[in-house]
Amino acid sequence: MKTLILTPEKEKLEDIIAKAVSVLRSSGVVVFPTETVYGIGADAFNLTAVNKIFEIKGRAKDNPLIFHVSSTTMVEKLAHINSFAKKIVKTFWPGPLTLVLKSKVDRKYSFGLDTVAVRMPENYIALKLIESLDSPVVAPSANISGKPSSTDFIHVYNDFNGKVDCIIDGGKTVYGIESTVIDVSEENVCYLLRPGAFSVEDLEEKGIKVVLPESNELKKRSPGTRYRHYAPDKPLFLFENENELATIYEEIKNKKVGYMGLFDTNFKTSEKIVFKNLVEYAKMLFATLRYLDCKNIDVIVAELPSNKGLGRAVRDRLLRASGVSR
Ligand code: TXA
Ligand code: MG
Repeated sequence: MKTLILTPEKEKLEDIIAKAVSVLRSSGVVVFPTETVYGIGADAFNLTAVNKIFEIKGRAKDNPLIFHVSSTTMVEKLAHINSFAKKIVKTFWPGPLTLVLKSKVDRKYSFGLDTVAVRMPENYIALKLIESLDSPVVAPSANISGKPSSTDFIHVYNDFNGKVDCIIDGGKTVYGIESTVIDVSEENVCYLLRPGAFSVEDLEEKGIKVVLPESNELKKRSPGTRYRHYAPDKPLFLFENENELATIYEEIKNKKVGYMGLFDTNFKTSEKIVFKNLVEYAKMLFATLRYLDCKNIDVIVAELPSNKGLGRAVRDRLLRASGVSR
């Protein structure tokens, strides 16, 4: 398949949007930027196109997709929004926060569920695309299932050129990590289903009390969190403190190490990436996993931050990438 590559530096935005919309209208799949990670999208009400996303990504059929909207009117057509959810929408959208709400659409469009996950991205290309299509766009993160998400055009180009109808180049994404998913389908309760670019502290600062996903019951609610995800090809070792780092080095003697973290280690490394702060760690996490995977190293060693602020999302992605739980 020849993939249509659309580049805002080379073409007027309205022409790019018109071309991408015409691809979506003819049951095509479009990779587009959002403020979090790139998405691989289809018209939510075109099941032929939606099914293509699952095939191209190799995604499990029981893992539902997020509906991306450009207005609150669009959400009202998709879901029941109680007054609690309305307040959250008003305060935080557009932005990296996905709301699980009671669905209004036929189950065949809501992946067999009685809820839908909805978000309004804070990216002008994404918003224009959805607005011009005049229909929600369902989109998972644009990566082959199980692999690190895409936070730059080169990632989606490498993963999907020749496999999708169209890719819109939006450069680097702002947050580098996916949206936070909360279930607010019940009045006055906010369950955290997936930590993300929007921290629990950000929500609590505005008076939204968040129920954390400590029980297995909650894990069931967000089907995507059951799968191993984001994994690099190289073995990934995680440490929380210097003792754990020393133990890892005992274990991987003579191996070439690709290192990433906030802490600047004195241990021998072949590649070393030290982040200034958690914002940078979150932003560069997937790009660094992809980068280290291509380098001449044997193992990746990464610092596992605590659950504070953005650390919760970085920690979640690293744990799922390594396939272990703590
Ligand atoms: O930032 C993001 O959220 C990116 C960009 C492209 O918008 N999208 C993204 O989609 O990360 P995906 O498919 O990789 O992750 C969506 C998560 C999955 O864990 C999925 O199980 C969950 O949202 N989800 C979707 N619909 C749901 C529903 N009705 N109830 C509970 N969880 C749902
Ligand atoms: Mg994903």
